[in-house]
Amino acid sequence: MKKLKKNNNNIYRDNDLVLESLVNYIDKSTLYEKEKLIPIFKADNFCLYNADCLIVMSRFPDNYVDMIFADPPYMLSNSGFTCHSGRMVSVNKGKWDKSKGFEEDFKFHETWISECKRILKPEGTIWISGTYHNIYQCGYILQKEGYHILNDIAWFKPNASPNLSCRFFTASHETLIWARKDKNAKHYFNYKAMKNGYFPSDTIKKPFKQMRSVWVINPPKREEKKYGKHPTQKPIELLKRIIESSSDIGSIILDPFSGSCTTGIAATILGNRKFIGIEFDSKYIATSISRYNDVIKLKEHQVTLL
Ligand SMILES: C[S@@+](CC[C@H](N)C(=O)[O-])C[C@H]1O[C@@H](n2cnc3c(N)ncnc32)[C@H](O)[C@@H]1O
Repeated sequence: MKKLKKNNNNIYRDNDLVLESLVNYIDKSTLYEKEKLIPIFKADNFCLYNADCLIVMSRFPDNYVDMIFADPPYMLSNSGFTCHSGRMVSVNKGKWDKSKGFEEDFKFHETWISECKRILKPEGTIWISGTYHNIYQCGYILQKEGYHILNDIAWFKPNASPNLSCRFFTASHETLIWARKDKNAKHYFNYKAMKNGYFPSDTIKKPFKQMRSVWVINPPKREEKKYGKHPTQKPIELLKRIIESSSDIGSIILDPFSGSCTTGIAATILGNRKFIGIEFDSKYIATSISRYNDVIKLKEHQVTLL
């Protein structure tokens, strides 16, 4: 049997057992003894919590996670309208996406971003996605909390919905901020995969040239929504690029607002990473589990064909 080292928090640190120990750590936390947290779903290298991310994250040990992808509420559900497939539809995504006013929204973002900092390893990095509704607050908080900003990526969506009022430019991009916890630590970046990889649908990326900070990626394909629609689902292609570029083999990846679990699905497709997702709406947890099972079935089928 392999020898395992314990860290300050009494957590076993062995690559194969790290997810297991994290799950146990969360289950056994004495701080919240009365209210134990058990993952709603757990398989190899993949686990989901159906709870508020602030509660789940509060039970993580310090300096534990390698990479975080956070797609938080954008706070844009203000009862306005947009155009979808030629029809006028409400922009409302759900109660969770409604703004509670500048101060309250700021407090919410500050709380989860600071908790992410505590649980990230010093060399660990965080990605936050957003639009002008939330991204400036998040960027300001990242700087206030002492993160070191590495990049801001403009994700250009070629077929974005037209602007109905004809009084503004058509919103056709989202911003992704990439930041490291510790200014002086060395983060992981898979430069070669980004430079030499195959990105056929990105009309800006030139083969064997450096990956730049504008990415052209289409919204999720119909196929990606076959187990249920999430109003703000991210494309798998986007998450694959993020995970491949900024997480090494064996990394622990956390998504505190996992929704339909695009991050976990992309991590499972790429393989060799440990994923933890947190989502408080059980409807989206059900979609996530179906998506996960589908990927596993596909992977098993591919192995059989080899
Ligand atoms: C922007 S969506 C994420 C979509 C996801 N990236 C995907 O591809 O499906 C944000 C999600 O966070 C969930 N959420 C909002 N606040 C939360 C909280 N405090 N704890 C856990 N989940 C939360 C919402 O239910 C929603 O599904």
